[in-house]
Amino acid sequence: MSVLPRHLLPDSAEESPEGHLMVGGVDTLDLAAEFGTPLFVYDEDHLRERCREAVREFGEGAVYATKAFLCRAMARLAHEEGMRLDVATGGEMSVALAAGVPADRLVFHGNNKSEDELQMALEVGVGRLVVDNFDELDRLERLTASRHDKVPVLLRITPGVSAHTHEYISTGEDDSKFGFTVSTELAVAAVERASSIPGIDLQGVHAHIGSQVYRVDAFARAFEVLADFSRPYQFGEICIGGGLGVAYIEEERAPTIAEWAKTLKDAVSSAGVDGLISVEPGRSIVANAAVTLYTVGTIKRLPGIRTYVAVDGGMSDNPRPVLYGSGYETFLPRAVFHDRDREVRLVGKHCESGDILVREGLVPSDIRVGDIISTPVTGAYGQSMGSNYNKILKPAVVFVRGGEARLVVRRETFDDLLATDVG
Ligand code: LLP
Repeated sequence: MSVLPRHLLPDSAEESPEGHLMVGGVDTLDLAAEFGTPLFVYDEDHLRERCREAVREFGEGAVYATKAFLCRAMARLAHEEGMRLDVATGGEMSVALAAGVPADRLVFHGNNKSEDELQMALEVGVGRLVVDNFDELDRLERLTASRHDKVPVLLRITPGVSAHTHEYISTGEDDSKFGFTVSTELAVAAVERASSIPGIDLQGVHAHIGSQVYRVDAFARAFEVLADFSRPYQFGEICIGGGLGVAYIEEERAPTIAEWAKTLKDAVSSAGVDGLISVEPGRSIVANAAVTLYTVGTIKRLPGIRTYVAVDGGMSDNPRPVLYGSGYETFLPRAVFHDRDREVRLVGKHCESGDILVREGLVPSDIRVGDIISTPVTGAYGQSMGSNYNKILKPAVVFVRGGEARLVVRRETFDDLLATDVG
């Protein structure tokens, strides 16, 4: 007997009398009928509650990493709940500003910010600029020379700590494209160089050890490195980045934001550091808030081999299985907590055999063409890493709350595919 575990679903998930999945008081089958599929369905109260949890624990130090999921509604929501916003490109910055988030609530990241992006950050007046390398310091020296105000800067430090996560999303070890490495003395040199630039107000240091990290002790170790490094300088802020993992599949359990905070606070008090401690959670705010709904288009039964269930999306709305070999669960929203006794491979409609959404998924054995099928925990790095590969239209996004659904990103049209094609 294998039933979808509840902890993988959004907070408001419940079963309707007919056995359907309801989120935010709305039947997900009605959402599929109204908005079409594929569809990202976000539980708005779940998003708000995770933002509040981060603000309760970290106050002004709570920063939402927009790369995990960004549209104007999400930027506004995180801002309304009191979080600052981490933006990593001019594009993310422009969406956050278009949502009405004040520039001084933005923390601007990036390992290769262009001169235009830096200029934009200075002009709008971002709250923090996280400087990654010496070339960026050179650019900033030039760009700030004629300005009267100083730009508040954190230096990105590479602490030499392993996050025990996938190589592609591990960023804290010395062999990294990000930041000034502590062990090679680059970090000390960076503090000296930044302090010599009149247009820079050096506020502190930042590190991000990686993403989808379950072991909170790794954050504590990175914090110790930052605290030791900062001691001679008396910085006003230490940022420990994002990276708290979430559970994607039945066997996984992840620490909560409050548990993460406890470990970090213990590390802060044993290091005897004061000043602002900030964090940048992305995934842990949004991942479990959403499910994706797809329609089953074909079912191919290969006796003695396997059953393929193909849906109307795929690697263009969730590239994580292809990129990182990430696992997901699958279920039928019409029978959300029924026994899933058939193993299938859930695949998309792209022209690649690697276009796999769930390698070994379980579904009820009466699955049929036309069914709505869902993958949970798709709120982070799905929509935001989506593509138009095979000229597939990007899905719509709805927020649900209190029995109402509101469309926050409409489905693309064929005209959108030609919007930038000047012929
Ligand atoms: N801060 C910085 C500087 C970051 O680079 C990141 C993520 C975060 C915060 C937020 O990390 P989170 O709390 O979401 O783990 N596409 C990958 C994840 C890439 C993360 C990149 N940086 C995935 O789908 O697993």
